[in-house]
Amino acid sequence: MAKNNFFITTPIYYTNGIPHIGHSYSSIIADCIARYQKITGKKVKFSTWVDENSQKAVLKAEEQGMDIMSYLDIMASKHKAVWDGLWIQYTDFIRTTEDRHHKFVREVLQKSYDNGDIYEWVYEGMYCVGCEAFKKDDDLVYLNKTTNKTFPVSKDVVISDNIIKVCPDHLTEPQILKEKNYFFKLSNYQKYIEELYKKNPEFVVPNDRFNEVIAFVERWLDDFSISRETNKFGIHLPFDEEQVAYVWYDALFNYITVCQNWQEDFWPADLHIVGKDIIRFHAIYWPAMLKSAWYEMPKQILTTWFFTVNWQKISKSLGNAIDPVEFSKKYSKDLLTLYLLSSFNIWQDGDFDEKQAILTYNAKLANNLGNLVNRVVVLSLKLQNETWKLYWQVDEFLTEDSLFSIDEDLVGFLKWKPTILDYLEKFQNSINKYDLKSCLDITFSFLDKLNKFADIKQPWQMIKDDDKQEEIRNVLYTLAEWLRIVWLALYTFFPVKMNEMFVKLWLLDYKNRLENWEFEKLLVDFPIFFIKEKWENLFSRFEIKD
Ligand code: MSP
Repeated sequence: MAKNNFFITTPIYYTNGIPHIGHSYSSIIADCIARYQKITGKKVKFSTWVDENSQKAVLKAEEQGMDIMSYLDIMASKHKAVWDGLWIQYTDFIRTTEDRHHKFVREVLQKSYDNGDIYEWVYEGMYCVGCEAFKKDDDLVYLNKTTNKTFPVSKDVVISDNIIKVCPDHLTEPQILKEKNYFFKLSNYQKYIEELYKKNPEFVVPNDRFNEVIAFVERWLDDFSISRETNKFGIHLPFDEEQVAYVWYDALFNYITVCQNWQEDFWPADLHIVGKDIIRFHAIYWPAMLKSAWYEMPKQILTTWFFTVNWQKISKSLGNAIDPVEFSKKYSKDLLTLYLLSSFNIWQDGDFDEKQAILTYNAKLANNLGNLVNRVVVLSLKLQNETWKLYWQVDEFLTEDSLFSIDEDLVGFLKWKPTILDYLEKFQNSINKYDLKSCLDITFSFLDKLNKFADIKQPWQMIKDDDKQEEIRNVLYTLAEWLRIVWLALYTFFPVKMNEMFVKLWLLDYKNRLENWEFEKLLVDFPIFFIKEKWENLFSRFEIKD
């Protein structure tokens, strides 16, 4: 039986383009966390998909001479194809043009309006369509059009036609707006938000980003505009049909629209995964909007940093946008997952480099894990001597205590018992903190130790010695058993390959049992392994081509 619910979300992606390698980061992280929660007993809801009521998409459709809904339909299916192509196992997907979402957002807008949290005002200022955000002077930078260089806004700069104020992320001049808007009284929630942060010191992780958010809130929270008069596409305000809801106001509520099924009880979300550029919307606006409409707060927000390619912002116009599905087809999904999750700290920007991705994969999955598996399999087959009837049964090792005392006198095996328990404990601590890099790091360093153990024992020498037949069985069983534990842990990241490994060891029901929440039980399964034939290398090396 599942114990309780776990709800995880990715940002919903804008559809003026197709997701690139940077976008895939959030979805791959969410997918791994969701899988771990599932195998360890939670009923998981994992939502994702597209943010469609954005001006960017409207402009794109116009640019292509297309009717907006036809454009959005095509883009939504292209986005879905990316997540399906990467085997992201979401359970719910949402388009913000769906009726259920429109209906729900109108309801919450009406609630906040009735509460007195929404009022009419004139917005006079700037708006960056690229960010879909209102901008102030100090959010902008100067751009020298001749050199294409940006520099901070300061009084010392002599303004000329050549120097314009732009959004630092999109390098475009913001629109100048003066229109009737509705505003949300964010200032009413200043105290509430400060309290929320105090009571939940891990509301936003990693901590650095949280500190920035806290500092921002402490300065002063301005009310913000939640509607646009000049836009016509989007969700119309129930109390003024001439106005369309600001895209962020509508988009954030996607997280609850997907929970509207009365049979399910998933809100509040356990974890929102968001990029560092959209943390303020999630950590400041969102709690206030929720509170105003009488909803509970999400439990935690995990913030991810940015990828560049060739140290440049990823953009279609620069031609450096890598398609994650193409990349996975060229190499493998595991290579992409491993590289994104093990080579970069979540709290740092990183440069995506194809060569490094290959080197990482070759070192960790092909060599460190793959070679060890091969050694165990090849030697086991030799030991059995009859390729097709091979199996290896070590009854005397089927209890927990005996497992850990195997071979004790020979290599001081007790030394290893804490090693594996320590490994599992660290792995579980890290994953419970959603620290996926650390999970992979400790797994590969544990595998280093196993490789070292094999090097010390040299079972390939023992096999030549008739007196060592018992000992070699112990060594191989031990290695196989510990590899099995590593595979269980790595199932979170590489489910397809790990399942192939289980099948090769004749652990045929493992996938099913994992999908039915038996991770913990399987850790102490102590199975009998059958190795029937030599395996193809499950993680073959990739050559680096210049
Ligand atoms: N539609 C909003 C999110 C609304 S959620 C209620 C949005 N969409 S987006 O398509 O622009 O970005 C989606 C996510 O991808 C964001 O978390 C963003 O930070 C992330 N990334 C976009 N480019 C990225 C990189 N180059 N690297 C890493 N993450 C990137 O914002």
